[in-house]
Amino acid sequence: MTGREEALAAASVIRERVAAAGYQHLDAMPVAGIVLGSGLGGLAARVAHAARIPYAHIPGFAPSTVHGHAGELLVGELAGRPVVLQAGRFHLYEGHDAATAAFPVRVMHALGVRTLVVSNAAGGVRRTFRPGDLMVIADHINLMFRNPLTGPLEKGDERFPDMSDPYDPALRRLLHAIAASQGLALQEGVYAGLLGPTYETPSEVRMLEKMGADAVGMSTVPEVTVARALGMRVAGISCITNPAAGISHTPLHHGEVLKTSARVAKEFEGLVEAFVAQLR
Ligand code: HPA
Repeated sequence: MTGREEALAAASVIRERVAAAGYQHLDAMPVAGIVLGSGLGGLAARVAHAARIPYAHIPGFAPSTVHGHAGELLVGELAGRPVVLQAGRFHLYEGHDAATAAFPVRVMHALGVRTLVVSNAAGGVRRTFRPGDLMVIADHINLMFRNPLTGPLEKGDERFPDMSDPYDPALRRLLHAIAASQGLALQEGVYAGLLGPTYETPSEVRMLEKMGADAVGMSTVPEVTVARALGMRVAGISCITNPAAGISHTPLHHGEVLKTSARVAKEFEGLVEAFVAQLR
């Protein structure tokens, strides 16, 4: 089970581990929970005084199986401020249900997190996007045909959460302001979340383009959906790792995704660190 009760139980295990490591990070509310996408795990190295908790030690967390995903939760300081960082996520294509994929967000909420930063690697649907572009997520399209909120209503959840502004406009503005101050080009667009694990066909990418998607990936939507149901603010960043299928004519593979995200990892890390520093 991956609901509120289980999240509270997981949160108390995490609190014990952080305290046992001698840290007081969770005495105050963490300023952000951060979910790291494929190849973007390097941010973990910037977290100071980190208590690192392997998923195997957290009840309700499944082991992470994908190359490029570590599988541990870090509680520590980024830019001197307390954060919870999820290094390795659960994907629906691994066979996890949407509620399992979003469970770490429930746990972060139980730890006091009220602002969620999600990141991912994504294919570029917008034709002007180049591999290595960073994109603020303005909105998403759920094409996973799964929703983590189906089933009995969890205490504290909205039954019919509003999704008219899932990605907080003020946080998006803050990301753009920071990028401008860093001389970093930052795109903005709509993320389409698909089930995977196959990459898309060229016809599917043309369909996504007509639908209004700018980027396509296989994650993020379940986590953001739960975050919104819990009333959390969300900021999202996609790393465009490749042109989506058919936009360029080279076959796609995960190695290319990891290579591109590694290339822009430092820019991504600098952006998120400055963002955390300035969060109010
Ligand atoms: N499609 C889906 N998911 C992805 C892609 C893509 O082209 N690139 C990175 N993740």
